[in-house]
Amino acid sequence: MRKSKTTYKCSNCNYQILKWLGCCPECKKWNSFAEFTPAISTGKTKKGYAKVVRMIQLDSISTTTQKRMLSGIKEWDRVVGGGIMPSSLIMLTGDPGIGKSTLLLQVSNELAKKYCIFYFSTEESLQQVKQRSQRIGYLNSNLLFSDQAELSAIIATTLHEKPDIIIIDSIQNCYIDGAQSLPGSIGQLREASFQLMRLAKTQGITIIITGHITKEGIIAGPKALEHMVDAVFYLQGEDRWQTRMLRAVKNRFGTINELGFFEMQENGLEEVQNINQHLIDEISHSPGSVLVSVIEGSRPLLLELQALTITSKLTLPQRVISGLDHKQVVLIAAILEKYLKVRLSVQDIFFKTSGGFKIKGSTTDLGIALALLSSYFQQPLPEKSIALGEISLTGQIKPINKINSLIHEAEKFGIEQLFVAKRQKFEKTSCKVQKFYNVYELLTLFSQS
Ligand code: TYD
Ligand code: MG
Repeated sequence: MRKSKTTYKCSNCNYQILKWLGCCPECKKWNSFAEFTPAISTGKTKKGYAKVVRMIQLDSISTTTQKRMLSGIKEWDRVVGGGIMPSSLIMLTGDPGIGKSTLLLQVSNELAKKYCIFYFSTEESLQQVKQRSQRIGYLNSNLLFSDQAELSAIIATTLHEKPDIIIIDSIQNCYIDGAQSLPGSIGQLREASFQLMRLAKTQGITIIITGHITKEGIIAGPKALEHMVDAVFYLQGEDRWQTRMLRAVKNRFGTINELGFFEMQENGLEEVQNINQHLIDEISHSPGSVLVSVIEGSRPLLLELQALTITSKLTLPQRVISGLDHKQVVLIAAILEKYLKVRLSVQDIFFKTSGGFKIKGSTTDLGIALALLSSYFQQPLPEKSIALGEISLTGQIKPINKINSLIHEAEKFGIEQLFVAKRQKFEKTSCKVQKFYNVYELLTLFSQS
């Protein structure tokens, strides 16, 4: 029989190497390698030969479309793909304090109207959970709690009681008795997720875990688990802004483009179904402010871009850009400088989006150009206007796709004027339309003395 070779395994992340190393190349932890003898696969177990499985054709498998678990909290249900898929393992992640436990408590409280739910609070005492539930204001008797944090006890309870859904808040505080790796390490996180995935699939139990982003960043935290679970949802938001955004980053049973919006209130998270009204109310109508629209998931968002340009006192002017691709703003600034001779290269440029949103795509090009020019000339754009267009390297304004749904949404919120490309085609609109062929024509919006 071939002898198994000794290797070294990192106790933190289970990374394996042939020679001992002081620092793990995967998780960068020091002194974490220990000798490890992997078992050779011979088809044998301790009790003799392993059971031979019977291979089957897919035709013989009956498929019944499983009914999704709807909570009635629409923003949650939509983002998870039209309700939670039964027997799936899903993870809710985000910064500590963002509202994961609050959201899960509310969702499970609603789901408990139809399903039996066990909530394992591995991080907080039951008194703390009770205090939170009192803020939210109601609790369903089908929702049962425990502060058990040891994984095999959680699994044993689940196997015995067979609830429909279990929640583990958080997975990072869950530990495995007798495991080789350290509690809270990536190795244990992976092991716990593996065991929970088996539990979900073999017993038909839906499992929701939370994982917070650790101080080492997302890589050492929930990111390491993304490939092991069925779906991953991020709860994001800015401290200043009470709005929270729920976004799917992986979903085996649905789209990943949907966004859900909530607002943190005194009594829990409240759904924000009309996010655009919220965003429009925040618009400042001052120089440097431009309204744009982007499609996120199935709905168009109306966002304000804010630019501030100011003569720099530094040899290398600053570019402080958030919410947009840094390169996109720098490129548009370069195009304006090249063709319009506006000296943006000696200006500091500060740029952001309203509500701390992060947006991608070239449909905002025209908006970025107008925001920069509006701040540079210190002249606001007409009120109730929106910019929808791309800009090419040669300075031409280009049409964008799916403009009709963007215009339609803008009209709903009282927008009266559109800035678009000359060749842009769109359906009839009640808005005044101003078309531009190239960036030179943008100067007509600003008076130059
Ligand atoms: P929490 O759900 O504990 O966050 P996480 O589980 O992501 O760490 O939420 C914590 C924050 O939310 C805390 O700062 C208090 C605030 N909060 C409210 O503003 N209103 C509420 O009704 C609740 C329950 C919490
Ligand atoms: Mg929490």
